[in-house]
Amino acid sequence: MSEAAQLRAAVIGAGPSGFYACGALLQAGFAVDLFDALPTPFGLIRSGVAPDHPKIKLVTRVFDKTAKRDGFRFFGGVEIGVDVAVAELRARYDAVLHAVGTPHDNQLGIPGEDARGSVASSAFVSWYNGHPTHADTSLDLDVERAVVIGNGNVALDVARMLVLDPDELRTTDVADHALDAFAGSRVRDVTVLGRRGPAQAAFTTPELAELGRLSRADVSADAAQLPLDAASAAAVEADPELQVRIELLREYAARAPSGASHNVALRFLRSPREILLGEDGRVTGVRVAVNRLELQPDGRLAARPSGEEETIPCGLVVRAVGYRGRALPGVPFDDERGLIPNAGGRVLEDDAIRVGEYVTGWVKRGPSGVIGTNKQCALETVAAIVADRDAGLLARGDGSADASDPAAADASDAALEAWLEERCGHAVAWSGWDAIDAHEQAAGEPHGRPRVKLVDLDRMHAVVRGG
Ligand SMILES: Cc1cc2nc3c(=O)[nH]c(=O)nc-3n(C[C@H](O)[C@H](O)[C@H](O)COP(=O)(O)OP(=O)(O)OC[C@H]3O[C@@H](n4cnc5c(N)ncnc54)[C@H](O)[C@@H]3O)c2cc1C
Ligand SMILES: NC(=O)c1ccc[n+]([C@@H]2O[C@H](COP(=O)([O-])OP(=O)(O)OC[C@H]3O[C@@H](n4cnc5c(N)ncnc54)[C@H](OP(=O)(O)O)[C@@H]3O)[C@@H](O)[C@H]2O)c1
Repeated sequence: MSEAAQLRAAVIGAGPSGFYACGALLQAGFAVDLFDALPTPFGLIRSGVAPDHPKIKLVTRVFDKTAKRDGFRFFGGVEIGVDVAVAELRARYDAVLHAVGTPHDNQLGIPGEDARGSVASSAFVSWYNGHPTHADTSLDLDVERAVVIGNGNVALDVARMLVLDPDELRTTDVADHALDAFAGSRVRDVTVLGRRGPAQAAFTTPELAELGRLSRADVSADAAQLPLDAASAAAVEADPELQVRIELLREYAARAPSGASHNVALRFLRSPREILLGEDGRVTGVRVAVNRLELQPDGRLAARPSGEEETIPCGLVVRAVGYRGRALPGVPFDDERGLIPNAGGRVLEDDAIRVGEYVTGWVKRGPSGVIGTNKQCALETVAAIVADRDAGLLARGDGSADASDPAAADASDAALEAWLEERCGHAVAWSGWDAIDAHEQAAGEPHGRPRVKLVDLDRMHAVVRGG
């Protein structure tokens, strides 16, 4: 197909959803330019998945293959909405696809939330995974007890990371600054707080089981918090996987302490009311409401305060209560749900479809689901793009494109590259990421580590330039 005849898609965000979409778009005959704010690809696979779960990261091999296909180009280090406007992409591409994830954290809205010693999981996880934005975050691990608020898999990742033996971490790709901090950490006890009961926890069984096998930490549950109300018991009865999870929790409650140096305590029916601070403004504890469950008309069990309260002393609080999207300039945003409004992946503006603009991944459906969930999600969106193409609806320069932008008329490979070079001379091609990847792996190899991550943008760009 000639360059002029081939339709072009711009995909914004090189996480799993963006990459799955790239694969499907290439398959459907599009030329694809993939943009990411970072010089490194893979989104939360690089900056979210826990360092002690290396097998999960092997999925990037599939994306490596996508990146080697004809018609694919990567422009790393280009933040859309900052370096380049979405309207400028609309002027140059037949389809623009948002796959930017949901980088912000949910707020608890309680006093003390932003105090020193209280950190969002988004920052904590990015810090230990070496995301450049959080590489300089200073975290005080010179405390004995941490409280992790939330009952999802991210909460369990955080709890596990806080008690892992540094020798186990030393063979992972954890960021060097975090490895040093974990090695010097005084944290011994981690309490994980769920606002609802054990049957409503969002974490999954393998992750819960993993807590029971930690090398230097016991896991405990409070037997008094495990009995199920009638509605929870019915839910457990109907779900074999949930039965395994509840059995596991009962087993944890019955375990005698082994004498391990560290402990992870799972506590249910506890909502944070206030993060308590000392005179120096640092976290000293969490005041929690003891909850009971109340059946809602829609069948959901909601946590309601029983009137009783408790205080849990601690020096560190990690708030792992879910993520939310960030509004991009010029892109519709549903502030309540924290995502881009859409109908099956077609972006909606005031309930009308913005032809030629699409969305996939967490920013399309909300921040839940594992890496593989994004494949189906991306396929749905790409099916919408292909249907719009086949209906003759895709036309470069439509919609919000700036008609006064003469450069937009020429959307050849060379013209696009020249335009990006002029707009942000630092864009990193896939070969540049290959250079970073090789550098990181070479640095890790002598230490038996998969890689030593570069966490500084200037260093990354120096490596790309061959420095
Ligand atoms: C802490 C954590 C641990 C997880 N662990 C696992 C696990 O072990 N196993 C599992 O299966 N799933 C795991 N998940 C879930 C999985 O990571 C997500 O399902 C998946 O990453 C969502 O993909 P996404 O492409 O929508 O978003 P993301 O992965 O967040 O990718 C979004 C990309 O967009 C880029 N971007 C954002 N804004 C812009 C912009 N303006 N311009 C250009 N680029 C931009 C970002 O840099 C990023 O690369 C985990 C999630 C979290 C939060
Ligand atoms: N190993 C893995 O496979 C892995 C690892 C990490 C993440 N992930 C996936 O990534 C996705 C996101 O994980 P996540 O843990 O961020 O989100 P999540 O699964 O949605 O869990 C969020 C937790 O926060 C709680 N919460 C929300 N608001 C709260 C509040 N105000 N006070 C107290 N608790 C509150 C929720 O309780 P309620 O239920 O009561 O709302 C829930 O327990 C999930 O799909 C997860 O499975 C997978």
